[in-house]
Amino acid sequence: MRIDIITVLPELLKSPFEASILKRSIEKGLVEVHFHNLRDYTDKSYNQIDDYQFGGGAGMVMMIEPIDKCITELKSQRSYDEVIYMTPDGSTLNQRMANSLSLVENIIILCGHYKGVDQRVRDTLITKEISIGDYVLSGGELGAAVLCDAIIRLIPGVLNNETSALTDTFQDDLLAPPVYTRPAEYKGLKVPEVLLNGNFPKIEKWREDQAYERTKKLRPDLLDND
Ligand code: ADE
Repeated sequence: MRIDIITVLPELLKSPFEASILKRSIEKGLVEVHFHNLRDYTDKSYNQIDDYQFGGGAGMVMMIEPIDKCITELKSQRSYDEVIYMTPDGSTLNQRMANSLSLVENIIILCGHYKGVDQRVRDTLITKEISIGDYVLSGGELGAAVLCDAIIRLIPGVLNNETSALTDTFQDDLLAPPVYTRPAEYKGLKVPEVLLNGNFPKIEKWREDQAYERTKKLRPDLLDND
């Protein structure tokens, strides 16, 4: 998979890709991540990429021209499955979206700033708008990092034990069951007996029941989905 991220703040975005699972997935060649500084695509003085909004109002708007130039250049080199715009008014990211995006070849992610981008960018260049939650960040970069992490860990070969992604919370619309490790008893706190007896069908049944009970208690909304 190849991910191209268009940003005015590449330095804010780089560190999540320089540690742990994301770093290893890049080193293993399972994913390529490229950063494009939007300021490299403007002819304006001071590398200007934003301007006042027509009609008045507080806040600057990112101009269409540098964004169009950057996306057009990328599209001239390969085809893209999605051009994603990170914005608080997009569809809220969930596991299902991460699963489906982990299957594609090439994506572009555009990070918004200020009051956002000129509407004509959204109307003509963007194929998907994604929010990471109902709150406003200073820019799309942190959202893009969250999106990339959620996608990249699902690419086959990224996690050592592939089944561990399949048993994550939210796969199957259920929260994950509780997990325990040694010691079997700590300050009188005991690990459930069923996990210690090696009866794997029974353990599996216990985990399924726990996942369902936890979901019913903590996130009943997940059980309403069809
Ligand atoms: N940019 C600003 N806020 C955002 C959010 N909640 N999700 C994605 N991008 C954003």
